[in-house]
Amino acid sequence: MRELFPKDRPVLVLAPMQDVTDLPFMRLMASYGGPDIYVTEYFRVTAESKLDSNTLRSITENDTGRPVLAQMIGQDIPALVRTAKLLEKHAVAGIDLNLGCPAPIVCRKDAGGGLLRQPERVDEILRALRENIQGRFTVKCRVGFADKAEFPRLLEVFQKHDIQMLTIHGRTVRDAYKTPVHPECVRLAVQTMPCPVIANGNVVDVPTGLAYLRDTQAAGLMLGRGAIRHPWLFSHLRTHWEGGSSTAPTGRDMLRYIQALWDVTAAFHPRFDVRPHVQKMKRYMVFITTGIAEGQLEHRIRRVTTQEEFFSAIYEHLDHDDPLPARPPEDSSVFCGFAELK
Ligand SMILES: Cc1cc2nc3c(=O)[nH]c(=O)nc-3n(C[C@H](O)[C@H](O)[C@H](O)COP(=O)(O)O)c2cc1C
Repeated sequence: MRELFPKDRPVLVLAPMQDVTDLPFMRLMASYGGPDIYVTEYFRVTAESKLDSNTLRSITENDTGRPVLAQMIGQDIPALVRTAKLLEKHAVAGIDLNLGCPAPIVCRKDAGGGLLRQPERVDEILRALRENIQGRFTVKCRVGFADKAEFPRLLEVFQKHDIQMLTIHGRTVRDAYKTPVHPECVRLAVQTMPCPVIANGNVVDVPTGLAYLRDTQAAGLMLGRGAIRHPWLFSHLRTHWEGGSSTAPTGRDMLRYIQALWDVTAAFHPRFDVRPHVQKMKRYMVFITTGIAEGQLEHRIRRVTTQEEFFSAIYEHLDHDDPLPARPPEDSSVFCGFAELK
């Protein structure tokens, strides 16, 4: 995996996000500088599952110039092996296994984060996948299901298998998305895993990214919601490592980003329909609007139902050249618990 990493600075990875990190979103991120590595949204794997054709496009039509890992979620070993083999027929940089999704419907089926309750089962799955995957095999996990005290046992399991990268969202499944992360768990993994470890969770700007790296000594960062909110984050981090400094984006920079997000995601869907598209945009906007105009834009966007209302709200609040707030407010509804990473 290290051969895919830059030689002189930490690697930057775009977090897989269901219904977000599809091909148009990857392309849009690339146009802002983008990550070094992408990961697809997860492919759901069951005994009968087929490869989702839209998600597959982020591999077969990936023209970002950067590698993409194909992520799977599931717990049925023959099905996971079958799917990994199918995915390896395409231009993937490797196969990634999701051991972190906290969605109750996923955990109830003992997949995603639910699997962390059964280290022995994780052991079996990793063994079977490692025996059958020809290329790189990577894992994305949380630090436990209910308690971070579970993490050392999980690390023992991960260490037994020849995985090429371990990405850690530094929370337990129970923590969901809104608690502080546990950098000490990521640090423990860095000290004990033979493969590179990537730190994930709550990076919202350059200082929170640098603090996470300082506290964990990880080989790189994976950025999720922070990249939806601020697509400049990858290039701002790179500029920092090159010794430069970046200027904060202005209202109009954000306006252009939102317009581009609308355009590229609308163009991607053959049966474009404006109403569901407004709803789709509102899901991105949850992450983007926080902290802008003291919450007024967030409030307005929640209520819009038409394209006209949508753009009238964003023009009203973003048609200006003033810099936007560098980070979301600490009491934000979606970005909580990053204060300790200052
Ligand atoms: C909308 C959304 C969808 C997500 N979908 C996935 C997914 O498909 N696979 C996965 O491993 N993690 C998924 N995650 C978790 C993220 O990859 C990441 O671990 C988490 O958001 C923490 O990182 P962040 O604070 O940088 O956002 C998702 C998160 C969000 C917010």
